[in-house]
Amino acid sequence: MQQESPPHDTDSPIGEFVFATPSGFGILGRKSGGSAARRETPLSVHRAGRVSVPAAGLVAWLMLAVPGAAQAAIGPPRPTEFDICQGCHGVFAQGNAEIGAPRIAGLDARYIGRQLADFRDGRRGASAGDTYGAQMVQIAALLDDTAIGRLSAYVSAMAEVPAPATLQADARAGQATFATCAACHGAQGEGGVSLEAPRLAGMSDWYLVRQFTAFASGRRGNAPNDERGAAMRGITATVTSEQALRDVIAYAVSLPGATAKAAAAGCADSASTPCGASH
Ligand code: HEC
Ligand code: HEC
Repeated sequence: MQQESPPHDTDSPIGEFVFATPSGFGILGRKSGGSAARRETPLSVHRAGRVSVPAAGLVAWLMLAVPGAAQAAIGPPRPTEFDICQGCHGVFAQGNAEIGAPRIAGLDARYIGRQLADFRDGRRGASAGDTYGAQMVQIAALLDDTAIGRLSAYVSAMAEVPAPATLQADARAGQATFATCAACHGAQGEGGVSLEAPRLAGMSDWYLVRQFTAFASGRRGNAPNDERGAAMRGITATVTSEQALRDVIAYAVSLPGATAKAAAAGCADSASTPCGASH
């Protein structure tokens, strides 16, 4: 178990890292305090807590713990196919603006599954000039329906990693425009209110601007059998300038949709609270 213990001993300064997950706050790992039993379970799971690791050894510790660390504290197992995804989307599926791969952690599982199938089956990413979509077409071609199911469940349940704000925008100015979007994307940007519109809250703002523009130009949502994409295309005329687009996206990503989702899902892992009953 030596290889799993942090490279620094108990005298090191302690840094704490809290990752909110859709099901509350999850410990990704815990500093091994000297007990052999603890060292066997560096990824112990708690309902509400934090992970403590020696600050000085954080990078090395993360590297040792990476496959498990990226996994949701409570959630589906990490499929081996995720090895492919993390190269572009990041170990935490948090996104990578430099290469144009968005945050996908925390999207609704059905939406993820549908997008992967859309890429694979020619409904998305096939338009001329869609170089970003084309990358996903190649990846999705490697996935059968079972793999898509595994990946969707896993990525959806991954820990919350709100994407950093990158837009020159006035989120308050975008609030009024967002009223239109809320009908499908939800008042809190949580998604899933109508037509399985995806979550926008906390996602990659630069990516959402690019997608909106893609719908507007017909690069996305133009396949004959893509009803949902067509619905989204129909809305794009309501946003009349690039600045208005940046503002409404800045507003959407700033919404607490993720928190609302976490609160709703938080009860799911408590055996004594039958939260589902109230739905
Ligand atoms: C070569 C880099 C690369 C790899 C590897 C990759 N992706 Fe992507 N992914 C992208 C890019 C770029 C986009 C944005 C596509 C666009 O702009 O239309 C994307 C978009 C997506 C989307 C759509 C997100 C949304 O909000 O609509 C999903 C879902 C997704 N990827 C899942 C995955 C999964 C699951 C894997 C692993 C099996 C994976 N990706 C591997 C680059 C990659
Ligand atoms: C009639 C319902 C509806 C309305 C209203 C709507 N959307 Fe959408 N939106 C959708 C659907 C459905 C999708 C997913 C399309 C798909 O599956 O490809 C989507 C996708 C998107 C995406 C791409 C997200 C991603 O992860 O790739 C963005 C960005 C977006 N919408 C922004 C907006 C904004 C901004 C507004 C308000 C101005 C808005 N939408 C209003 C239904 C809607």
